[in-house]
Amino acid sequence: MSDDLARVAVLLSGRGSNFVALADACARGEVPAEIVLVLSNKADAGGLDRARERGIPTVAIPSKGMPREEHESRLVAALDEVEAHWVCLAGYMRLLTPVFIDRYAPRIVNIHPALLPSFPGVDAQAQAWEYGVRVSGCTVHLVDTGCDTGPIVLQRTVPVLDDDTSDTLAHRILEQEHVAYPTALRMLLTRRWRVHGRRVVFDPLIDVDRPWPASAN
Ligand code: GAR
Repeated sequence: MSDDLARVAVLLSGRGSNFVALADACARGEVPAEIVLVLSNKADAGGLDRARERGIPTVAIPSKGMPREEHESRLVAALDEVEAHWVCLAGYMRLLTPVFIDRYAPRIVNIHPALLPSFPGVDAQAQAWEYGVRVSGCTVHLVDTGCDTGPIVLQRTVPVLDDDTSDTLAHRILEQEHVAYPTALRMLLTRRWRVHGRRVVFDPLIDVDRPWPASAN
């Protein structure tokens, strides 16, 4: 266990490409974090395989048929056991209740494949394409109990091209997600910040050589 690295748990429900982007950025030393656990509500999530390939511990706690609060209590217990300090949702397709949020906020982060507050919820890329917007993108935000409503940390834009389909748009947004998520996590872990109203406010980069210790956030 390194004291210099933030202990991050990743929650996912699917293939886990954002988890891979985070894990690779950590391995390259670009994000001062260690992914200590990958947790899924789906036992067959591809992201769990990606984690095992990297030697990162995994836990599946299936949510199906389990009361929501009991499920979240079990998530919290699993994260407490590995002493996770930060939680990154990476395609975790369930809303979280105060059972979970109150334990980890404000250190819960999510990535969403649209420019919030437009197109929250599922199939955001298809929602944006069907609406006919000319620009979409992705949003990294802190998590509250709403559906993709927490304060925004970072957004990256993606133009919608005339010959795009919902799938080609989703593909280009995903490429930007893989840049946005590690960048946002690095900012949160290395800079002083606070939540002011709906804003995540970062202090100016006065002292870049002396990053804010992850343990103090
Ligand atoms: C990503 O596009 C992520 O933004 C989205 O699920 C996908 C997961 O892909 N999340 C949401 O829609 C949350 N509202 P991944 O498993 O390859 O990271």
